[in-house]
Amino acid sequence: MANITFTMIKPDAVAKGHIGDILKDITDAGFKIKATKMTQLAKQDAEAFYAVHSERPFFNDLVEFMTSGPIVAAVLEKDNAVADFRTLIGATNPAEAAEGTIRAKYAESIDANAVHGSDSDENAAIEAAFHFAAKEIF
Ligand code: TYD
Repeated sequence: MANITFTMIKPDAVAKGHIGDILKDITDAGFKIKATKMTQLAKQDAEAFYAVHSERPFFNDLVEFMTSGPIVAAVLEKDNAVADFRTLIGATNPAEAAEGTIRAKYAESIDANAVHGSDSDENAAIEAAFHFAAKEIF
C-alpha cells in the first residue's frame, strides 16, 4: 500500500468543530478517502498506537490527550501519500508549521496538534490495520 497514509483528526480539532474544514483541506490537496470513522480511543488503544513513544517524557500526556474525546480516523490514498500528507499537515509544533498547513491553521500546541500523519509506508499500513478491517477500506 505504498500510496496509502493514515490520519487522525485529534480530539482538539474535533472539539473545535474542524472535522469538515480539515477533510476539505485533505481532499482539496488530492487525497482520496478510502476509509473513515469517528471513534474514541481507549487508554490501551492509545498506548498501543503510540508504543514507539512509550519511553518519551510526553507519553502519558499524549495518551491522556488522545483519549480525551472523539477522533476521526481515516485512510487516504494519493501518489507519494506519506510524504505529501506530512507536507500538508506541517511540523509537529504548530509554531514551526509552514503557513497554510493544517497544523498552522488548526493546531493549538505541540501536543494538541490537530492531526496525525503516518511517518512511513510501513507504519501507514500498520496504523490503517490498527483502526480498520480490510472490508472497511474501499
Ligand atoms: P512525533 O511522531 O514526533 O510527531 P508527528 O505527529 O509530527 O509525527 O510525535 C507524536 C506525537 O507526540 C505528536 O504529534 C504530539 C506528541 N508530542 C508531544 O506531545 N510533545 C513532543 O515534544 C513531541 C515531539 C511529540
